[in-house]
Amino acid sequence: MSKPPRPAPPEVLILGALLSAGAAPVSGAALARQLGVSRVAVWQQLEKLRAQGFVFEGVRARGYRLAAGPQALSAPLVSAHLRAHSAGCPLTLLDEVDSTNDEAARQLAAGRSAPFAVLARRQTSGRGRLGRAWHSTDSGNLYASFAFRPRLAPARMQTFTLWMGVNVCELLTNFSGAVPSLKWPNDLLFAGRKAGGMLTEARVDADEIRDLVFGLGLNVNAPATAWPGDLRGRAISLAEHLGAPLDLNRLAAALVGRVLLAYDRFVDGSYAETFADLWNRHDVLRGRPVTVLQGPDRVSGTALGIDDEGSLLLRTARGRTQRFRAGEVTLEKVPPPDTAARPSRPGE
Ligand code: BTN
Repeated sequence: MSKPPRPAPPEVLILGALLSAGAAPVSGAALARQLGVSRVAVWQQLEKLRAQGFVFEGVRARGYRLAAGPQALSAPLVSAHLRAHSAGCPLTLLDEVDSTNDEAARQLAAGRSAPFAVLARRQTSGRGRLGRAWHSTDSGNLYASFAFRPRLAPARMQTFTLWMGVNVCELLTNFSGAVPSLKWPNDLLFAGRKAGGMLTEARVDADEIRDLVFGLGLNVNAPATAWPGDLRGRAISLAEHLGAPLDLNRLAAALVGRVLLAYDRFVDGSYAETFADLWNRHDVLRGRPVTVLQGPDRVSGTALGIDDEGSLLLRTARGRTQRFRAGEVTLEKVPPPDTAARPSRPGE
């Protein structure tokens, strides 16, 4: 039998009630009733939240409105946004951690029941694929890991990160209006520059995945000046792309909700109904000349998309179709069209 959900902490309930009410004030008495505490206790909670950067507007004889919240990640605010959308997920927000993926794996190993999410304001050893470092300073970006115990056959994992990728892209499109691209297998791009990366790590028993951690690094509000030399010109944040910062807490909550939903659809198999179409919508490689590096091997050709198992398909110069389960892809630069060969238009 599954355990009943733990009641949310009072500060989350208060923020949830104020968020749901929007511009309408909520009286101290109503908040006290909802929480089952005294009005003094409500006032004490509001004071605690004020100290964390929340601004409450008192509306004479009618109650409180949430006028502003902290711009940095706030655990009660993310949880309250989640509640306002009738979703819930235990989440831990850390000021600093080595890697949220490592922290989630430690908590799984210690027996914490899944699903849960671990977020951090910065990471000291953020990791990417192929042992690369993930730039993780406290500059308004998201570093998040989601822990699950899926009990699925290990072969199912091949499409997991790709499916999560299309869900993150769809969510970002709905949230911000900007449409990201996906570069197989785990990169999120805006205008050809990297805006996010995913790292899925699983512990596998003989014939079953014991647990898995899905890690997502998303460049949300970092300014262009935040990137060190080697990333300048290659990394980009959503704020840079859009020309305006995003509400990090609302976005984090929306992401948590979407990832949980996507996970359920992956486990029950219904993801297969939309996966290929969504992948094709965001795939930046399809139809373009690419080179795949796999260990010492280097294969060039035209990307054809992915197959049902999530492998990348490549048409080589010899007309053969090659399949890659893993590898590092680079998009080849296409030389600009030869203007001399272009038929001239009237007036040119
Ligand atoms: C990649 O592009 O190679 C994947 C990058 C994944 C980075 C995220 S940030 C949150 C989580 N914690 C980590 O150490 N890595 C992932």
